[in-house]
Amino acid sequence: MGILSALVGRHRNRRYWDVQARSDHRWHISHSRTEEEFERSGAATAELLFGAALAALPATGCALEIGCGAGRILGHLAPARPQLRLFGVDVSAEMIRLAQARLREHANVILLRSDGRSLDLFPDATFDLVYSALVLQHLPSAIFRRYLAEAGRVLKLGGLFRFQVQYDARRNGRDLHLPNNFRTIRYHGVEEIRELTSRDFEVVEHTDPAGQRQVHDFLWTLRRRASA
Ligand SMILES: C[S@@+](CC[C@H](N)C(=O)[O-])C[C@H]1O[C@@H](n2cnc3c(N)ncnc32)[C@H](O)[C@@H]1O
Repeated sequence: MGILSALVGRHRNRRYWDVQARSDHRWHISHSRTEEEFERSGAATAELLFGAALAALPATGCALEIGCGAGRILGHLAPARPQLRLFGVDVSAEMIRLAQARLREHANVILLRSDGRSLDLFPDATFDLVYSALVLQHLPSAIFRRYLAEAGRVLKLGGLFRFQVQYDARRNGRDLHLPNNFRTIRYHGVEEIRELTSRDFEVVEHTDPAGQRQVHDFLWTLRRRASA
C-alpha cells in the first residue's frame, strides 16, 4: 500500500468511528440498544477477557486497552482494580470524549487519542498487560501486524497480551482490501498469529477452533519474552 493511500485510509477510519460515536455509539460498539444492555455487555466482555471476578487481571502495575471506545470494558476494570493504572487509547477523539465522560470518577484511568496504527505514545516496556477486544478484527493487515509488534514493544518482559480476533477456517489471513468499510471482519488463523508473534511472544493459550468453521471470540493470550 502506498503512503498516500495509507494516510487516506487512516483518515477515513478515524472519521468513520467519530461519526459512529456521535450517532449511536452503543449500537456500533456492541449492538446494545440501551445503557443497561451496554453495561451488561461490558461486564460480559470483561469477564470473557479476564475470567470470573476478573481473576486474571493484575492488582497493580499498568495496563493498556487498544481501541477502548467509550470505555465499555474499562468501566468494569477500573473499580475492581483501583491500584492498577489503566490506559485506554483510541483512534477516535469522539470515542475518547465519551469514555472520559463515562469514566470521569475513576482516577486510575487515563484516556488518550492515538494515531490509529502505533503505540508511539508509550515508551518501551511500560505495561504489565495489553488487551484489546472488537478492534483488531476490523484492521487492515498492515495495521494489525504493526499493533502486534507494538504490543511486544510496550510490554515489560513477562507481561501479557490478551486479545480477541475472529476465526474462519475458509478465510483466515486474507486481507479483503475494502478500505471504506471499517466494520469489515478480517479473520486470523492460528498459524498466522503464531508466525507474526513468535519473535517477541510465547503462546500462553488460544481458543481451540477444533471442529468449528467460525469463532467470533477467538481469544489469544501471549507472554512477552526476551526476543530471540
Ligand atoms: C467496536 S468498537 C470496540 C470498543 C471497545 N474495545 C469495546 O469493546 O467496548 C471499536 C473501537 O476501535 C476503535 N478503532 C478503530 N480503528 C482503530 C485503530 N486503528 N486504532 C485504535 N483504535 C481503533 C474505534 O474508534 C472504536 O472505538
